[in-house]
Amino acid sequence: MLVVIKKGYEEMSKEAARVISEIVREKPTAALGLATGSTPLGVYRELIRMHKEEGLDFSKITTFNLDEYLGLPPSHPQSYHYFMYENLFNHINVNERFVHIPSGMVDVNEIHRIHKYCDWYEDRIGEVGGIDLQLLGIGKNGHIGFNEPGSSLGALTRIKTLTENTRADNSRFFDNDIRKVPKYAITMGIGTIMNARLVLLIASGKTKAGAIKKTVEGPITAQVPASMVQMHRKAILIVDEEAGSKLDVHYERIVTDLN
Ligand code: PGA
Repeated sequence: MLVVIKKGYEEMSKEAARVISEIVREKPTAALGLATGSTPLGVYRELIRMHKEEGLDFSKITTFNLDEYLGLPPSHPQSYHYFMYENLFNHINVNERFVHIPSGMVDVNEIHRIHKYCDWYEDRIGEVGGIDLQLLGIGKNGHIGFNEPGSSLGALTRIKTLTENTRADNSRFFDNDIRKVPKYAITMGIGTIMNARLVLLIASGKTKAGAIKKTVEGPITAQVPASMVQMHRKAILIVDEEAGSKLDVHYERIVTDLN
């Protein structure tokens, strides 16, 4: 695992965008796994800048998003569909036919349909030859995607029930009313994420310091789903100084190879 500590949010974002842009340049038909949340916003801003100013070309790129709330239509401002178009896809030359975001409109009461849908999502990833780079944020509780503590470490895309903690965290986007936060989501599993050729996890700010410490230095445990990245052959963590502030080891500021 490679841990890169950058001074602040901007530096973290630029470094992560640089890693992504390298893949896009080297393999114009790459499949990118994308994430939502506040952390990737700076990465997406930088990718948009690279597209506009440097001609970074996304026309043959395929994308797969990590997750989506169940029950929110794509037009809902808090849906991850809406987020991705608003913050990235509308500003780059990605081909909409190559964009995949789990559907939020599969009926939660029709569990067989959800299973079928999730299998289809996994099959699509397989059909394009797998994900080349998976971008990840991390929750304060160590979740990745909507894989909450206790999630199976081998699972593939499936329906998950959100914890009260995550719903409370995310209620800031739903008028601070937890009752408005959906209860279920479709999310790639840790197994799906581990199948990506490169995993790029980003974190910023003090509130993530505990989760980053457990992810990098703690035991691998389903209680901290992100700790599974220790098992990945090619994982890069880019964090800012605050998010890295609880790490015991004195990592070099620029790049430290932890193996
Ligand atoms: P954040 O969310 O980027 O908004 O902090 C990350 C996550 O919960 O996965």
